[in-house]
Amino acid sequence: MNRKPIVVIAVTVVLILVAVAAVRSFFWKPSDRSEVRAVPEGEYDPAVWGRRYPLEYGSFQKNLEMTASPTDFGGSVKFQHSLRQPENLTNFKGMAFGKDYTEDRGHTYALTDLKESKRITLQSPGACMTCKSAHIIDIYKSQGEAYAKKPLGELFVKMKHSITCANCHDPATMSLRVSNPAFIEAMRKKGIDVAKAPREEMRSYVCGQCHAEYYFEPETTRVVLPWDKGLHPEQVYAFYSGKPGGFEGDWVHPDSQTAMLKAQHPDFEIFSAGAHARAGISCADCHMPYMREQGRKYSSHWVTSPMKHIDASCRRCHPEEAKWLLGRVKTTQKSVWELQHTAGITVSKAHEAVARAAALAETNKGELDKAREYLRKAQWYWDFVAAENSMGFHNPALCLNILGQSIDLAHKAREAAGKASGTTP
Ligand code: HEC
Ligand code: HEC
Ligand code: HEC
Ligand code: HEC
Repeated sequence: MNRKPIVVIAVTVVLILVAVAAVRSFFWKPSDRSEVRAVPEGEYDPAVWGRRYPLEYGSFQKNLEMTASPTDFGGSVKFQHSLRQPENLTNFKGMAFGKDYTEDRGHTYALTDLKESKRITLQSPGACMTCKSAHIIDIYKSQGEAYAKKPLGELFVKMKHSITCANCHDPATMSLRVSNPAFIEAMRKKGIDVAKAPREEMRSYVCGQCHAEYYFEPETTRVVLPWDKGLHPEQVYAFYSGKPGGFEGDWVHPDSQTAMLKAQHPDFEIFSAGAHARAGISCADCHMPYMREQGRKYSSHWVTSPMKHIDASCRRCHPEEAKWLLGRVKTTQKSVWELQHTAGITVSKAHEAVARAAALAETNKGELDKAREYLRKAQWYWDFVAAENSMGFHNPALCLNILGQSIDLAHKAREAAGKASGTTP
């Protein structure tokens, strides 16, 4: 008897079943498997959420680990950036980042690190806590924008927990939500209603609400995201040049007497124009990859360098070996770091040149202001990359381009200072 057709049919059926399972697993959404176990609104203790969602909580607790990254950049070890980059001390002279500028670590430390930072005092504006704790939700509800002007010390009394589940999840439905009002407002101005955003977008918006550039509006000191003209550093610079709400800069550099801008972790801005974002990939795809434990698939809540778990974070899409992928990342970061460092040093020399020119009586003040304008922009471009957290990986082309412009502008600042004072730069 010929059994061949039966074998062929059986094998085909098995193959179809395997293929269906694979496709389902790839497109799996959390809501398919885990039913919602609501948490009371106003509950900010992650351990309480963790009793309902033990796998997510277990991975969340790994944010407490303080390990280096295999790239030698990033990582969760707190160190002063000025040790690697002494030019920071010149470029941030006269402002808080000149005193204390440490590498970031896990979300569980945000509140502790804010309290320990030498950049703040108990009298600093309450706005500083906006991205450091889930308690912002209650504080905003009861005080609105007024919290931004309250002394930080007064708000600390109300804050027990760092960044926790409620920053990103609605406790009743577990769906993703944005808790920072400044992000919602900035997106609304761009015509985007965050409350109606599709899930794929939310997987980046929950991160973008904190990992973005901002400024404190004079008078109110509330947090505002400067995106009215766009997210590109040149557009953000143009927006600041219009002195929004009377905002002229973050501080005046004591040597060069230049009104400076401080860039703050523009991860969302730089990432948004990169290859991955254009391919529809979100922050969570790399930083919160799917894991499997106890027969269940879940999103890792250990939000750290993806290079600590390349198999989960990159190889879902890239078939190449982990070692090769790490090599790609390191090559990109090395070339960005080299230009970033050169730009930082060139900018610091421009501060010195402008300061020297300013000290001479014969210097043409009008000409010197031109040098200051070049300098302000040069530092902004340098800092936009230096303050971003991936050492260029999120968007190598954009980072290298603005670093090149930064170096050029810093040289122009030195030339203009020389011309203003009649000396050679
Ligand atoms: C395609 C993968 C990918 C996506 C998507 C992605 N990142 Fe990253 N991210 C990386 C890599 C790679 C690094 C470098 C890590 C290192 O050097 O160890 C990094 C670094 C970081 C760091 C610093 C990590 C550290 O160890 O200090 C932060 C913060 C960060 N990304 C935030 C974001 C945010 C916010 C988004 C979305 C707007 C995003 N990332 C999207 C791959 C990604
Ligand atoms: C920084 C933002 C953020 C924080 C903080 C956070 N989550 Fe999530 N969570 C996400 C994202 C992004 C997803 C993926 C959602 C999606 O794709 O629909 C997710 C998914 C989930 C899911 C759905 C199942 C899964 O694993 O994908 C559960 C349950 C969950 N989180 C629980 C928690 C708990 C419990 C905490 C606190 C211990 C927490 N989350 C903290 C961003 C966050
Ligand atoms: C409520 C504000 C907030 C939200 C929401 C948020 N972050 Fe963060 N993130 C921070 C702060 C603040 C730090 C630095 C904490 C520290 O150093 O104490 C940080 C640190 C990090 C780090 C460095 C961790 C390490 O091990 O060095 C990564 C990576 C990161 N965030 C990525 C993300 C991604 C991806 C999302 C979205 C899923 C996200 N963050 C959502 C505020 C936030
Ligand atoms: C969800 C799928 C997905 C994940 C996860 C992902 N990538 Fe990609 N990656 C892509 C796609 C799609 C492209 C192609 C984009 C294009 O060509 O426009 C790409 C492009 C790249 C490129 C070339 C473009 C560039 O920016 O240099 C590199 C390098 C890369 N990925 C590395 C990584 C690494 C490292 C990780 C993990 C940290 C990662 N990717 C995670 C889908 C992914």
